[in-house]
Amino acid sequence: MIGIIGALDEEIRLINDALIEHETVKKAVYSFHRGRLKSKDVVIVKCGVGKVNAALCTQILIDTFNCGKIIFGGVAGGLLPGLKQGDVVVSSHAIQFDVNLTAFGRRHGELADQSRLIEADPALVNIVADTFDDMAATMPSPPTFLVGTIVSGDSFVSDPETIKWLQREFGAACTEMEGGAVGYTCKSNEVPFVIIRIISDGAGEKATGEFDSFLSKSSEIICNLITETVNRI
Ligand code: ADE
Repeated sequence: MIGIIGALDEEIRLINDALIEHETVKKAVYSFHRGRLKSKDVVIVKCGVGKVNAALCTQILIDTFNCGKIIFGGVAGGLLPGLKQGDVVVSSHAIQFDVNLTAFGRRHGELADQSRLIEADPALVNIVADTFDDMAATMPSPPTFLVGTIVSGDSFVSDPETIKWLQREFGAACTEMEGGAVGYTCKSNEVPFVIIRIISDGAGEKATGEFDSFLSKSSEIICNLITETVNRI
């Protein structure tokens, strides 16, 4: 069983629409949609915004639905100068950037018993990359695709100072609010995961407007990439 998570309705709407033989199971405050996506058994859930929601849904996918692989799809704020709306970033690693035990000599994002870099499953990352390449070959002007570090914290980033800090401190390509928690939960359960993010904004002063105007457009890109990826797993 493959678990698919998105934070917002828009991010998973089209994947839900593509589900066949579908049933809905409620657990805690979340609705889990179990069915088949093309030929694969999947469970899809909208977790809501933030790391706690993401961790809860990931654990439920593993415990209740027996998911052996987890894919998170959604939008993110770009941190690299060349990134523009619609570009795609896939996690080599995820980090919880707002974990701060620096008072105890740890680096930002680092917990006592674990490296701050949470490695995504390399095989899943490769499948997403190959899927993207095949999709891009049919597009007149494909978006930029890169594999890199994705940082997560419980805040929407919309200022240049934070962009600079996240990029320099973590070497991050984009910032969002769930991936680090999905990664942490998957690592704790030894379940492979990958985070797929479409850039919705530049995480600077105009970020909220950029985010709002792009969100509805993001669903199609996320849905296509996740559906084709799942088909190859
Ligand atoms: N998701 C999309 N854009 C974001 C941003 N700028 N900060 C945090 N999460 C985001």
